[in-house]
Amino acid sequence: MRVITISSFKGGTAKTSTSLHIGAALAKHHKQKVLLIDFDAQANLTSGLGYDPDAHDSLAPVLQRRKTLQEVILKTSIPNLFLIPADTWLERIEVTEALAGDRYSHERLKELLKSLKGFDTVIIDTPPSLCWLTESALIASEFALVTATPEFYSVKGLQRLSQFLTSISERHTLDVLGIVLSFWNPRGKSNEAFIDVIEETFPGKMLKAKVRRDISVSEASVHGKSVFETAPSSRAAEDYKTLAKELLKRLQKCPK
Ligand SMILES: Nc1ncnc2c1ncn2[C@@H]1O[C@H](COP(=O)(O)OP(=O)(O)OP(=O)(O)O)[C@@H](O)[C@H]1O
Ligand SMILES: [Mg+2]
Repeated sequence: MRVITISSFKGGTAKTSTSLHIGAALAKHHKQKVLLIDFDAQANLTSGLGYDPDAHDSLAPVLQRRKTLQEVILKTSIPNLFLIPADTWLERIEVTEALAGDRYSHERLKELLKSLKGFDTVIIDTPPSLCWLTESALIASEFALVTATPEFYSVKGLQRLSQFLTSISERHTLDVLGIVLSFWNPRGKSNEAFIDVIEETFPGKMLKAKVRRDISVSEASVHGKSVFETAPSSRAAEDYKTLAKELLKRLQKCPK
């Protein structure tokens, strides 16, 4: 089982859309059994898969040891794609009674996932900040997939993220799987400059596959589905399929 956290410091870099579509592509096109974890109190991944965030338990009661992982896993409209939804209880969960006294509360998610059986890939979507949730997700993961947009502040922000990932990897097994750019404009004037900054910050990690700007991504979330179901011949569907293939190739090169 491979655990991948999708992260970036910044808001709106397509973390949630990337989590959903990589998960959907692996389940739909590569016969994998995939668990998506919505670890952001905004719960966009949960609504993006058609669930009402306030109607189901999130990981919060599991982290507080009141429920088991199995009890909070939901099915999605794609066979083999499962979801642990988010809710507002995740926000500042680390200060709640069950966790506040535990110096190692950051490692609870990692411990929980060790008992999970039968999944090929677990993908964790994180909030746009370096909070307890993001840190716990990264500690629980073997890989970080970093999302960015082709904008100056987005690529510059990667330097801080890189330092943070390095500091975690000194204590835990964590490697950067790749950097993926979304909202890509193939004719953008500064494309090369952005790619150069990324290459300097994360040498060899830039992914060839890029996700072009495509309205069908936000349209699909309105329907609570992936673009593979709502717009299978869209640019986004094509780009996410290519991205999933490239990620699988990289993963195959990393020994388990
Ligand atoms: N390739 C794309 N083309 C057009 N719109 C996109 C694309 N990818 C994502 N979007 C839209 O951009 C918005 C932000 O994307 P998303 O929610 O995935 O980002 P995020 O990084 O998870 O944001 P947050 O930091 O708030 O969690 C959403 O409305 C989404 O539908
Ligand atoms: Mg998000």
